[in-house]
Amino acid sequence: MCWASSWTPLWLFLCFFLTGINAFNLDVDNPTVYSGPEGSYFGYSVDFHRPTSDHSTMSVLVGAPKANTTQPKIVEAGAVYYCPWPPTDSKCRQIAFDSTSKPVEFKSNQWFGATVRTHKGKVVACAPLYHWSALKMPGEKDPVGTCYIAIQNFSAYVEYSPCRSGLKTSICYSVY
Ligand SMILES: *[C@@H]1O[C@H](CO)[C@@H](O)[C@H](O)[C@H]1NC(C)=O
Ligand SMILES: *[C@@H]1O[C@H](CO)[C@@H](O)[C@H](O)[C@H]1NC(C)=O
Repeated sequence: MCWASSWTPLWLFLCFFLTGINAFNLDVDNPTVYSGPEGSYFGYSVDFHRPTSDHSTMSVLVGAPKANTTQPKIVEAGAVYYCPWPPTDSKCRQIAFDSTSKPVEFKSNQWFGATVRTHKGKVVACAPLYHWSALKMPGEKDPVGTCYIAIQNFSAYVEYSPCRSGLKTSICYSVY
């Protein structure tokens, strides 16, 4: 994806140079409207998803970083929705990236779905405000962030949280 609010020739050139030329027709007369739970920030992020083995089907993935989930005792963890394309009667459904919760994790208001990206059938979605408690001290928690990757047509999920996993890189430290 490549867009900017103020187009300049240089930006235009860079966009085409970096992404290749993609034609995309917007049907302004008959737009498709997807909707999600009120107050969930549905539409904050969006990407198209196409399973690699099946090029005929396409879907739209929509992030809603303040959506409630079925995770117990967690408020507004955020979610990513799977919306069929072309739109059918079936509505967007929440993708079950993560149903776990450990005592050392803080998933309320973690903004899961603030970013969602697809690549060759895989989907990665992140929660930039995910916290966890590395030290067993009460009240202590670190904003490490986390991501989940959906593979094999949403039949398996893998967590990826480099700043939590002990990779003490300068990237993790420089943010905080
Ligand atoms: C999520 O659930 C909480 C508690 O039930 C509620 O107060 C809040 O409005 C809900 N948020 C959304 C976006 O539905
Ligand atoms: C992916 O899973 C859905 C249902 O879970 C199924 O309808 C679809 O055919 C599957 N696609 C591929 C490429 O396996």
